Amino acid sequence: MTIVKKFLVASATMLALVAGTAFASSVDQAIAERIKPFGNVCLLGDPCADEVAATPASNGGDVADARSGQQVYQQFCTSCHANGVLGAPLTNDADAWGERLAAWNDSWEELTDSAIAGIPPGMPARGTCSDCSDDELMESIKYMSGL
Ligand code: HEC
Repeated sequence: MTIVKKFLVASATMLALVAGTAFASSVDQAIAERIKPFGNVCLLGDPCADEVAATPASNGGDVADARSGQQVYQQFCTSCHANGVLGAPLTNDADAWGERLAAWNDSWEELTDSAIAGIPPGMPARGTCSDCSDDELMESIKYMSGL
């Protein structure tokens, strides 16, 4: 009798273990399924690597993805230019910006180059937007200039 009892306990334990493993693997599957849409790893040499190379949109942020001047301004420039921190020309102060532009031969390109380089110590290079394209920076300058 006791042997039978022990056997029953043992098999119940086994069952629990097996069920636990099955549960864990179905959780693994569910997780794998859930993270799938966010990316498959594709190594060079895999057949899928050719597909990736052939996809025209995989050039990492072209003009179509550009942020607007307003978006860049609000995220990166407003902290200084909205309040004139460290003597920054104020947002929408068309006179101040007109002078800045005139100092660069009325050229938005040259004014943008100046922002790209930065002006120590107050104006950081690219106004802290290190991944902004030159065009995105120029649009944000036009936006805040009020010109
Ligand atoms: C940490 C503060 C700060 C941030 C952030 C900042 N600026 Fe400036 N910016 C300044 C200051 C200060 C000046 C004035 C520098 C001077 O003339 O000595 C300035 C000047 C400029 C000028 C005039 C350059 C010239 O040659 O006259 C441009 C253009 C400019 N900023 C663009 C931007 C843009 C675009 C951003 C956001 C992407 C930005 N700034 C973010 C502080 C900042």
